[in-house]
Amino acid sequence: MGKVYVFDHPLIQHKLTYIRDKNTGTKEFRELVDEVGTLMAFEITRDMPLEEIEIETPIQTAKTKVLSGKKLAIVPILRAGLGMVEGVLKLIPAAKVGHVGLYRDPETLKPVEYYVKLPADVEEREFIVVDPMLATGGSAVEAINALKKRGAKNIKFMCLVAAPVGVEAMQEAHPDVDIFIAALDEKLNDHGYIVPGLGDAGDRLFGTK
Ligand code: PRP
Ligand code: URA
Repeated sequence: MGKVYVFDHPLIQHKLTYIRDKNTGTKEFRELVDEVGTLMAFEITRDMPLEEIEIETPIQTAKTKVLSGKKLAIVPILRAGLGMVEGVLKLIPAAKVGHVGLYRDPETLKPVEYYVKLPADVEEREFIVVDPMLATGGSAVEAINALKKRGAKNIKFMCLVAAPVGVEAMQEAHPDVDIFIAALDEKLNDHGYIVPGLGDAGDRLFGTK
């Protein structure tokens, strides 16, 4: 069963409050999502493996550590996932970026795939799939299906706000994928929106509606 980590760091919680606030405009919303992306990346990379190397400081030779292990790729679920990419790249600038395009059919709430482009060396990479919202879970489950179909084996999922039903759907479909969230909300409303949530993440990020 995939583990669920809720990041209760005060800075993440503070910024999430203003992301949720309906009076926060597009520019500030985008900046805050970017900042929370960076803070969550800091937490999510806690278990990254290190290796020891030898360098020369101005004083003497020293054995010290650098990151080792798998190469990373960040995969936003289009559109809203794009808002978290730059924030993650600030901490992991060497990561490759793949894209999975999905939209949720407003009638059926089922995800419809329209684009998938991943780095070539899929099997050797560790993937972090990002999307601000995990509602019914359909989009995240489908995005990770798309990655696995192409050979991805090591996947984490990171989002801002999740509904319990979405977490359950992910754990059932992808028990090997750990889920990293900033908040676990109460439920979904009749239109499949997270309550209290933050509204439509794509529309708020890009100023559409
Ligand atoms: C939103 C959000 C997720 C999805 C979550 O995208 O960014 O991808 O809904 O809902 P689910 O868990 O019920 O699948 P949306 O379909 O609105 O597309 P957009 O990002 O292009 O606006
Ligand atoms: N997609 C969103 O953008 N917001 C929700 O609350 C649910 C799905």
